[in-house]
This record gives sequence, C-alpha cells and structure tokens, in this order.
Amino acid sequence: MIRIDYTNVMAETIGERDGILREELLSFRHFVLETHALIQKEKEKKFYFAKLPYQDVEDLKILAEEIRSKFEYFVLIGIGGSSLGTEMLFESLKDLNHNIFDKPKFFIMDNVDPDKINSILERIDIEKTCFNVISKSGTTVETIANFGIILKILKEKVGDRWNEHLIFTTDPEKGFLREFGRENNIKTLDIPKNVGGRFSVLTPVGIFPAAVMGIDVDQILEGAKKMDLICSVEEHVEHNPAYLIALTHYIANMRRGKSISVMMPYSEKLSSFVDWYRQLWAESLGKDGLGQTPVKALGTVDQHSQIQLYRDGLRDKIVTFIQIEKRDIDFKIPEDIPESIHYLSGHTLHEILNKELLGTKAALIKSKVPNITITLDKITPYNVGMLIYLYEMATGFSGYLYKINPFDQPAVEEGKNFTYALMGREGYSQKLEEFEELYKEKYKIEIQ
Ligand code: PA5
Repeated sequence: MIRIDYTNVMAETIGERDGILREELLSFRHFVLETHALIQKEKEKKFYFAKLPYQDVEDLKILAEEIRSKFEYFVLIGIGGSSLGTEMLFESLKDLNHNIFDKPKFFIMDNVDPDKINSILERIDIEKTCFNVISKSGTTVETIANFGIILKILKEKVGDRWNEHLIFTTDPEKGFLREFGRENNIKTLDIPKNVGGRFSVLTPVGIFPAAVMGIDVDQILEGAKKMDLICSVEEHVEHNPAYLIALTHYIANMRRGKSISVMMPYSEKLSSFVDWYRQLWAESLGKDGLGQTPVKALGTVDQHSQIQLYRDGLRDKIVTFIQIEKRDIDFKIPEDIPESIHYLSGHTLHEILNKELLGTKAALIKSKVPNITITLDKITPYNVGMLIYLYEMATGFSGYLYKINPFDQPAVEEGKNFTYALMGREGYSQKLEEFEELYKEKYKIEIQ
C-alpha cells in the first residue's frame, strides 16, 4: 500500500503565498487529459519504461539462480542509471548486514576511485566472483576503465575460463560491450532500445542483479504493474498519483519559487531510493534553464542538521517525506531507565521515528513549508515496485509540463566528450582544442 498525503502543499493549510489552490490544480484538467493521451501513445517509444512491468523475466531468474549457486561474490561494474537503481533495490530490500551474513556478497564498482576499487578487491576472492558489467552505451569511461582492470586480474587468476566470470548488460546491438561480448562468448543481457539509463531499473539492469541477491523480482514488477494500471486509467489529477506528484512539484517550482525538492525518508533502508530519485529528477528535468534541484535528507538524522534551514532559510523548498507504517523488527525502551528520561519507557524506536516525523511536519506547516508525505505500509518488493513506477511516470509527465525532453541528457554527454578528449580518444582532437580554449586556472591560492 502506498498513500500520498498532499494536505500540506495546499493553500488551505499553508496559505496562498506558499501553498497551491485546489482550483489551480484543477485548472490543468485539459492539459492532463491531452498529455495522458499522448503518454499512452508513447508507451511503445519514449515511455517504453511503462511496458517493463509486463516483461517475462523467467530466463533472467534461471540465470540468476545459476549465478547464486556458482559464485560467492557478485560485483556490479556500472555507474549512474546503470548502478543507482540496483543499489536502491539491494539496500531497501535486503538486510543491511547482507554482506556479513548472506551470499553472494554484493559490491558496486561505480566510481573510478582507486581507494574504493582496492577496498572491494581486498574483500573478494576473484575465483569465486561474478562481475556484471552494465552500460547502456557500452562506452562510459568509468565502467570501461574498471572493467579493463578486472579483465586483467581475471585472466591472471582464472586463466582461460575468465569469460565465465563475466555477464554484460548493454544495448541490444551496439557499443564496445556488445562487440566484446560477442567476440569472447560472454553472456550478454539486453537493455531495451527505448529505455535510457535512469529509467532502466526494471530492465535486466536492476532485475537481474536483484534476482541474484534473492529479491522477489516478480513482486517488484507486480507493484510496478499496479501503479501502471492506476496511472493508465485515472485521467483526473486528484486520482492519478504520478500526475499529482508532478503537478504539485511543478506549480510549487514555477509559481511559488520552490526550486529545491527535498526527499526525506524516515528509513535508512530507503536512503538510496533518494539517490536514485535525485538522478531521475535532476538529469531528466534539468534543461533549458529549468528544473528543480533534488536534495537528499534522512529522518531523523537530518532533523539535527538541515531542518533549521528548511524552516527558516530561503523559502525555496518543497519536501517529500517517506514514512513506513510497520516494520518486522522493533525495540522497546525498557521500564527500568532513570526517572528523568522515563517518559520514553514503553515506547519503541519505530514509534519515536514516526512521532519525530509528525513533529517535523508540524514545524514545517507552522513555517508554511510545503510538504508531501508518502506512506508505505511496509518496505516490500511490491511497494518499492510501485514507488519506482510512480516516480518514473511523474518524471515523464513533468517533461510535458516543463516542455523539455526528459529522456535525454545532453549536458552529461558534453562532460563525457571532454573526458574522452582528455584521455586521448581517437576523433576527439577538436574537443581537446575546445577544452584548452575554455579551461583556465588563473586565480588560485595554495597553502603548504
Ligand atoms: O541516465 C543516463 O542515461 C545516464 O546517467 C547513464 O545512466 C550514465 O551516464 C551511465 O551510462 P551507461 O549506462 O551508458 O554507461
């Protein structure tokens, strides 16, 4: 179950300066109807992510079982949309101590930070490790660099059978990984053509590693399917959760100056859900001088770090809280504690977490900071599947509101191209000239 409470973004609660009038929301009625029809048509093309809940994943599950029984370590090599979704599934749906008590132990090589790569290499046994190299383009520098290092180590440690330790996930036709996989008989999974990195968590990019970890991927897809059904049928903004999230954020941004979208789960397990959301919201909507900056916060920790600013700083934020109703594990504060702190006796940690959330919400309402609460009855694969689809559709719909293409990332490509030039890639000499023209280190201060 997912509940979205948007009472506290409404003008009725926080006033017209910061809040949204119901008539204002409803005035988008025609826009919503038209866009809804466009989205249904686009589901075979740009909105192909909406078809993913219906895919057949039986072969992926069989392969995942094989990997589970053969290997003790599973390392994902990929970055951005090729790693954040899987990290989110792993952290939200597996025990926080998975790598201590369970198998296969899971690691992500995303960054090209030698300290990180070294610390993973020190914790794995190459002979018992499967590496899943994931890249839609098949050419991203970080992924290819880390892969190159692993390839050499694999050849040294396992000899001729090095290719049996690799699984690629990439574009169905092109790119370095696709070609290298073909030439070297490496098992290669397809990322559907019409699905870009940050929308790919429900393709083999996220579904395969999740199945290797023993996560119930059928339930993730069931949840996503349920959200798709609701979003496909409901044309009224007050009944369509994705359009509601999109519109409240859009109005808050463009009409009330809320240029920052804070997401604050009161759950450590959902902390990396926010990392996934940050990429989705930022890379999809940050275009043509528009977009909202997504910011990550964690309850209750950031109450003691950020809330002062959210309440009393610039009035530029809309906050989304995520609340969990039930947990499998909880701790009760004992009766025999000192008298002065006895008011906590008999209460549980889960209860404190949720009461602190209520307290924070009340404080934000008092300061007229718009906030939405998304409640999950529990953190389950089904609910996480619903959340994923909800935010993907909200992002896709927002593209129409901002009149931008949410599925490309030209500004990311620009940085990638300069990096290719700096690393001496063939065909990038003009880019290198452009870099030298642009980049100066003129004003500096250095302290020894
Ligand atoms: O959303 C996107 O397209 C990007 O953030 C990519 O996921 C990221 O740059 C990695 O690209 P690739 O999967 O091609 O290695």
